[in-house]
Amino acid sequence: MDRITIRGGNRLKGRLPISGAKNAALTLLPCSLLTAERLTLNNLPRLADADSFGHLLNELGVSTTMSRGNGETIGRQLTMSAGAIASTVAPYDIVRKMRASILVLGPLVARAGEATVSLPGGCAIGNRPIDLHLKALEALGAEIELAAGYVKAIAPSGGLRGGRISFPVVSVGATENALMAAVLAQGETVMENAAREPEIVDLARCLVAMGAEIDGIGTDRLVVQGKTSLHGAEYEVMPDRIEAGSYACAAAITGGEIDLVGARADDMEAIFQGLRTAGVEIAPFDGGIRVTADGKLRPLTLSTAPFPAFPTDMQAQFMAMLALADGTSVLTETIFENRYMHVPELTRMGADIQVHGRTAIVKGVDRIVGADVMATDLRASMSLVLAGLAADGETRVHRVYHLDRGYERLEEKLSAVGADIERESDG
Ligand code: UD1
Repeated sequence: MDRITIRGGNRLKGRLPISGAKNAALTLLPCSLLTAERLTLNNLPRLADADSFGHLLNELGVSTTMSRGNGETIGRQLTMSAGAIASTVAPYDIVRKMRASILVLGPLVARAGEATVSLPGGCAIGNRPIDLHLKALEALGAEIELAAGYVKAIAPSGGLRGGRISFPVVSVGATENALMAAVLAQGETVMENAAREPEIVDLARCLVAMGAEIDGIGTDRLVVQGKTSLHGAEYEVMPDRIEAGSYACAAAITGGEIDLVGARADDMEAIFQGLRTAGVEIAPFDGGIRVTADGKLRPLTLSTAPFPAFPTDMQAQFMAMLALADGTSVLTETIFENRYMHVPELTRMGADIQVHGRTAIVKGVDRIVGADVMATDLRASMSLVLAGLAADGETRVHRVYHLDRGYERLEEKLSAVGADIERESDG
C-alpha cells in the first residue's frame, strides 16, 4: 500500500488547478441510467470513486467511453450510453467500496421499474442510514423490501407517480435519489426541505439539459413535472469546492499564496468567511481565487450545517489549520456523529484538541511535529496532509487510498506549488 511522505515547512506559492467535483460527479454519473440516449460528462475528475462508479454502471449495462482531458483543464470526458438496462442489481462488492452506489436506486426504479442495491452498511464517519432515500421513493409509489442485506425497490405497474416528499432532515443523497426518480415519475412531485448544496444544483441543471422540468433549483423546495422519457445531453461537472477549500487551507497553514484556478467563489462563501475571520486574504480573479496568508492565524468558532452554512466536509481541514492558530477555536459537528477521527492523529503531532460530544476545543500551539499517521476517511486524511505541510520534520500519511478517492493527483498538485511531498510504496 502507498503512503504520502511530506517534509513540512515550505511556504506554498503558485497556481493550482481545481478538478471536477467528486460529489457532483457521483450524482451526475447515475443520470446516464435515466435515458436511452448518450450522456456525456466533461471535466470528470480522475478519482477512484468516479472509476468505481463507472464499473458499477458497466455492470448495469451502461457502455462507457472515456477520453482524456489535456492542459490545465485536466478533467476527462466520459460518454455513457444505457440503450437497455442489463441488470437492476448493484452488488455488495461494489457498494461496500463506495457508499454513493446507493444513488443508482432512484434512477433504476424510475427507468426499469425495479432496483436492488446492497445496503451500504456502517461507515467510518457515523451510522449513515438510508431511511430518507427509501421514504422518498415510497412517496413516489415504490414498494420497498429489505432482504439478505439488500434493499429492493419496485415501481407500481404503471411506473412511479409524482408525490409529496417532506424531508425531516436535510439529506444530500436522499434529495439526489428522489430528484432522479421524480423526473421520470408521472405527474408532479413537490420536495420540501430538500438539500440545496451546489452539487444538487449541478444535478438539477444536468437533468434539465436532459429534458427534465424542475422549478426551485437552488432552493429547499423543488417542484418536478415528470416526463415519460429524457434525452441525451453533454454536461460539465462543476469545480470541486471541497478540494478548493482544502488547498485554501494549505495556503493558510503554510503562510503561502495559492491561486485556485477554476474555483467558484459563489459555492464557497461559508468556507471563505471562515478563512477571512482567521486572517486569510481571499481575492477572486478572472478564472479563479487567490488565497494569501501571512503565517499568523486567528482562532474561530464554527459549526457545520447543510449548505449554505459551513460544510462538514471541510471540518477536518479547518481543524488542522486552527491547531496552529493564535488562541482557542471551538468547532461543532452537527451532521455526522463520529467525524473526529483525525483528532487523535493530530494530537500525536502535537496539536492540543479535546472533544466533548459534538464539540472540539482546539487550543492553538506554536508548532506541530511530523509523525506516522493514518486516517479512516477522506477528509480526515487531508487534514493530516495539511498538518504535515506545516509540521517540523517528516510526516508519513498511510492508507493513501482514502485520499485517492477524492483528491486528484494530490502530490503532483502540491509539489507544483512548492510542497516537499511524494508518494512511496509501503513495501
Ligand atoms: C453527502 C456527501 C458527503 C457530505 C454529506 C453532507 C456525497 C457522495 N457525499 O453524503 O461528502 O459529507 O453529503 O454534506 O455527495 N441521514 C439519515 N437518513 C438518510 C440519509 C441521511 O438520517 O436516509 C442523515 C445522515 O446520517 C447525516 C445527515 O442525514 O446525519 C446528512 O447526510 P446526507 O446529506 O444524506 O449525506 P450523504 O448524502 O451520505
